[in-house]
Amino acid sequence: MNNATILKIGGSVLTDKSKEKTLKSKEMGRIAKEIASAGVRDLVIVHGAGSFGHPQAKRFGLDVPGKCSYETVVTHETVKELNRAFIEKLVENGMLTMPVHPLSCAISREGRVENMMTDQIRLMLKNGIVPVVHGDVVMDRGWRRAILSGDQIVVHLARCLNAKMVGIGTDVDGIMDDDEVISIITPKTFGDVKRLLGGSRDIDVTGGMSSKVNELVKLAEDGIPSHIFNASRKGLIVDFLRGERNFGTIIRGD
Ligand code: IPE
Repeated sequence: MNNATILKIGGSVLTDKSKEKTLKSKEMGRIAKEIASAGVRDLVIVHGAGSFGHPQAKRFGLDVPGKCSYETVVTHETVKELNRAFIEKLVENGMLTMPVHPLSCAISREGRVENMMTDQIRLMLKNGIVPVVHGDVVMDRGWRRAILSGDQIVVHLARCLNAKMVGIGTDVDGIMDDDEVISIITPKTFGDVKRLLGGSRDIDVTGGMSSKVNELVKLAEDGIPSHIFNASRKGLIVDFLRGERNFGTIIRGD
């Protein structure tokens, strides 16, 4: 398979990160409508957790190694609520979607994804279904449990499915150098860009923009480009899905 498009919608786009468990319902509806209207085949959606995972993970100490407690389950169930809400909006817009929960099909080793079953995702795509995956709590070989970011999942799936394009919809216009969007990053220019990358404004247990770009540069080295853009700006999700590339930051091989 090399026709798959993977689209991540960041938790900060779908939720209000300053208030625990708060949806941006109208935005979610608008985003679902945009994705549906683009009508792309072989699409995998991955979403982040936003306020349905980060504050809980931080409070329960899930960002550091520790035992599998009841709170581990609570965090998983919380991000599942967001997944269900997003799927509902996608279905309302006529899309055939199915949830894929990483806790049930992926494991990590010291916070890095080690294995994720993808046969079910391939079969969903074959049957015209859009899988909706998310950042999650997973069982970890070294740390017992860990938080697996949607970004790590995106990169892993992109490699497994040999995706043709990866989109990262965030709430910023791309990677910024002062007020200017950096339009292209390659493994060669990444060294200069690193100093511009910060963490996150809100609670973020998975490392913010810096770790995101790190992952994506590695993906570009393997021949899979990605596109970071502002999914909060109306129309850009459709533009991305239809192949327009004149906005945001493209991360590609040399
Ligand atoms: C985080 O996933 C998952 C949990 C905290 C359970 P992400 O790291 O992909 O979430 P966002 O996009 O930053 O909100």
